Amino acid sequence: MLRSSHSYKNGIAAPSHCRSGECGWCHSRLVAGDVYMPTSVDGRREADKKFGYIHPCVTFPLSDLTMEVPTVR
Ligand code: FES
Repeated sequence: MLRSSHSYKNGIAAPSHCRSGECGWCHSRLVAGDVYMPTSVDGRREADKKFGYIHPCVTFPLSDLTMEVPTVR
């Protein structure tokens, strides 16, 4: 799972709130790489899916990733 602790360890301050895929606070654009997001926790809107956004708090990386992470609000 792409937890904030991983982001912090790599010097990235990523936003996080519910940590259950529901609030969308962490939504980030997946630029490159493969991920797995269980359908049972996929709370993304259709527009998010269409434009490649994921909720890192409930996403498992399957490869190295390149992401656009919003700044902490
Ligand atoms: S922190 Fe709420 S969807 Fe990720």
